[in-house]
Amino acid sequence: MNCCIQTVQGDITKVDDVEAIVNAANNSLLGGGGVDGAIHRAAGPELLAECRTLHGCDTGEAKITKAYKLPCKYVIHTVGPIWYGGNDGEPELLANAYRNSLQCGVDHGIKTIAFSAISTGVYGYPIDKAAVVAVDTVKEFIREHPGKIELVRFVLFSADVLAAYEKVIGERTIL
Ligand code: AR6
Repeated sequence: MNCCIQTVQGDITKVDDVEAIVNAANNSLLGGGGVDGAIHRAAGPELLAECRTLHGCDTGEAKITKAYKLPCKYVIHTVGPIWYGGNDGEPELLANAYRNSLQCGVDHGIKTIAFSAISTGVYGYPIDKAAVVAVDTVKEFIREHPGKIELVRFVLFSADVLAAYEKVIGERTIL
């Protein structure tokens, strides 16, 4: 079965038709602002309690928890890089965050995953550049793991982030 890549504008905490959503967390995994704060608020305090048992997460790595009061089954927590200008390994670290999130999903038999736009908020990664890394890394992973993932959905909070992702997906279709 071919994998479907979708983009949608919206709130990832409301997504109820995928198995796992991917949180843009920080190294502590103990919550924060942005999408991380929204996920913890919607999941309830049990999520924080499980996160405490994980002892943090390195940048570019991913760890999985249950989703508690969220309408999906799992939350995959990954940590994207803070943008320091682009010469500090940011593209490789962001690619690692996408790749390791997908691998974490595959390791748990998950076939449908929704991503937030990792690093594009508080962490300041330029949206156009982040969209290229996100789309190319997901496509490469799907190519290298045929049949493992059925659906990847990018859930983008704002119209400008949605437009950036759709532009890259459009370009990759033409090439
Ligand atoms: N659903 C989908 N996307 C969202 C939502 C939502 N409910 N809320 C925000 N976004 P950010 P980062 C978008 O800052 O840049 C936290 O404090 C947002 O518009 O959440 O990886 C963590 O604890 C943006 O496009 O994550 C870390 O300390 C994207 O999600 C730090 O922020 C990511 O923005 C991580 O920063």
